[in-house]
Amino acid sequence: MDNRPVGFLDSGLGGISVLGEALRVLPDENFVYFGDTKHIPYGDKPPETVYRYTHAAVEQLLDAGCKAIVIACNTATSVAAARLREELTVPVIGMEPALKPASLLEGEGKVLVMATRVTLALPKFEALMERFGQDAVRVPCPGLMECVEAGELSGPRVEGLLQELLQPYRDMPVKAVVLGCTHYPFLKKTIARFFEPHVQLMDGNLGTARQLGRRLEEEGLRSTGPGGQVTFLSSMEGDAPIRQMQHMLSQWQQLTANQ
Ligand code: DGL
Repeated sequence: MDNRPVGFLDSGLGGISVLGEALRVLPDENFVYFGDTKHIPYGDKPPETVYRYTHAAVEQLLDAGCKAIVIACNTATSVAAARLREELTVPVIGMEPALKPASLLEGEGKVLVMATRVTLALPKFEALMERFGQDAVRVPCPGLMECVEAGELSGPRVEGLLQELLQPYRDMPVKAVVLGCTHYPFLKKTIARFFEPHVQLMDGNLGTARQLGRRLEEEGLRSTGPGGQVTFLSSMEGDAPIRQMQHMLSQWQQLTANQ
């Protein structure tokens, strides 16, 4: 048993969609969330730069006394998870685009994988494609994360951008869409409107939260509670980024309240 918090990190606000699931499935745990807003985006930077930023974020979380690290960012996971697992003694849990469950769905049609350019280009995703990518199509989505950071979860800007990004796939039969960046689940309802009602939109958030629970259990690190506390940290100075993160968590809780 270990009542220290679990550390979450992302380039900005996206990982809050994973944190929200962890708060639901692990109610006895407390959390520290680090948003690296100063260095966002990760998704179009060279991998070595993303590694450096991710490493620095992990150090902040360890300094804050975290017992485990969740890399709540697909891009940072693809770049840094394997190396960090070799370096660190605490459990490191990462994200993976939900291509495996999407490819196993019944029905005909393509699986569109929406993610950052870096996630889609790295060997980790290539390996996933080799195993489960027979019907998959890579859909890089530059600009989409920026809408979430600006709090625009619907409306003309985000819809116009989605129109542009999804245009090349408009005539393809689609059975599933993978939300392979932790910012995109915030846009789930808006993205769903671009597809037929039977198309499933899948993310890895709940799976990651459950995996965190399993890893804590295996390592004897589960908290005895009381839990549910979140401390926010940012690489930007001042209160504004912290307030923005708190606001985003309550947005997420409202978006998922009836699920
Ligand atoms: N949230 C991050 C991810 O899951 C990416 C956003 C960024 O480009 O920084 O990939």
